[in-house]
Amino acid sequence: MSLFRTMPVEDVLTRGRQGGLVRRLGGVDLVGFGIGIIIGTGVFTLAGIEAKQHAGPAVVLSFVIGGVVAALAALCYAELTSAVPTAGSAYTYAYATVGELLAWIIGWDLLLEFALGAAVVSRSWSGYVSNLLGLPPELFGEDAPVNIGAMVIIAVLTAVAVSGIRESAWVTNALVVVKVAVCVLVIVAGLFFVRGANLVPFVPPAQPAAEGAGPMEQPLVEVLLGMEQSAYGFGGVLTAAAIVFFAYTGFEALANLGEETRRPRRDLPVGLLGSLAVCTLLYVAVALVLTAMADYRQIDEGAPLAAAFQAVGLPWVAALIALGAITGLTSVMMVELVTIGRIGFAMSRDGLLPRKLSQVHPRWGTPHRMTIGGALVIMLLAGFVPIAELADMVSIGALSGFFIVTLAVPVLRARRPDLERPFRVPLSPWLPVLAALLCLYLMSNLNVITWLRFGAWLVLGLVIYFGYGRRRSRLAVG
Ligand code: ALA
Repeated sequence: MSLFRTMPVEDVLTRGRQGGLVRRLGGVDLVGFGIGIIIGTGVFTLAGIEAKQHAGPAVVLSFVIGGVVAALAALCYAELTSAVPTAGSAYTYAYATVGELLAWIIGWDLLLEFALGAAVVSRSWSGYVSNLLGLPPELFGEDAPVNIGAMVIIAVLTAVAVSGIRESAWVTNALVVVKVAVCVLVIVAGLFFVRGANLVPFVPPAQPAAEGAGPMEQPLVEVLLGMEQSAYGFGGVLTAAAIVFFAYTGFEALANLGEETRRPRRDLPVGLLGSLAVCTLLYVAVALVLTAMADYRQIDEGAPLAAAFQAVGLPWVAALIALGAITGLTSVMMVELVTIGRIGFAMSRDGLLPRKLSQVHPRWGTPHRMTIGGALVIMLLAGFVPIAELADMVSIGALSGFFIVTLAVPVLRARRPDLERPFRVPLSPWLPVLAALLCLYLMSNLNVITWLRFGAWLVLGLVIYFGYGRRRSRLAVG
């Protein structure tokens, strides 16, 4: 039974109070961190690719569906963070509800999500910067033997992340202002070039998929149900929804700032729901403007937004979009690095990772060892491995975390009805269960190879748990 030993909520809260992280964040900072990690590659490139390949103009609906699933998950996060503010988020909620083994798996899975996310994003950052500034692709491009650009940006942002949570918030807020301004510019400038004809038919009729991708590239659900691969139609809208869901991932990182927020019980729900609402509105509007400006069949897959403005003779908007993408990607990495530090910090404090990692720097108040350790792994990955195609791993990592969190809401209500819950999910357990099913459904729309890679990561995690954490856990040593 010890696999399912749980951590008492009181322990979590006490450790949060004595943990050594410093409470320096307010509500605005949280919304900044949230938007900082949410807006990135998803809207700047995936919106165009998915309109072209799967959904046509109805990619707008895909963004709405993704936004609804993300909002349901965010409601669940909001309840748990308001009841149990902690640095460990989903990992800690799992520890307090479904037990140590699942908690470890979720923590391990979140480290994957954020570390791989930072590595993937740093490589596309490097590509954008080399494009904009004409830097040599041998050092900054996808084919570079060592991607110096990706390694340097991770190193610089790690220095900011280690130097303090306030400093990280300042940098993030500044980047967020730029990228939100660029999204608004796209929407406003684009309105002058919309053509209603491009939006008809809104949902293009279903047709067989163009190129015969192998079974590894097919969504798991289609393989399990023996379905033919197809594009467009309502099925295409759902496939696109699973893929553009990537654009929403990341908001849950806020739930790791529970020990650094001044009024966590009030500000965390505001930050989670507020940042997601802003991003959903921007995404739907950008997707609508893009598909109304350009015929979905002719959207450029490399830089969809910039190309659409070049095509209508506004190259300066295209240049600003590149700038927006670069600042967007920078803030995504910034928040990911901060988050990895907090998740690893919580896991190490509980003994599941080496204890040394959870030491807080006496002056900076940050979990510097874990942050630097995580960053070194990310730099190795980002410098030497072409990992762009691993972006789907980020989505599967996020969705599996959401799945556990949504279920943790009714479980914690049943186990600890007495806990103070400043924010409550309406219609529990129905809404959380619906959210869990939707997460599973979106996961099943990711392709087979992503599932296999995810399985391999979990097996590695289990080996580490049984070889190390199970015996060293604080619950084991008492
Ligand atoms: N949501 C982030 C993005 O779209 C990860 O880049």
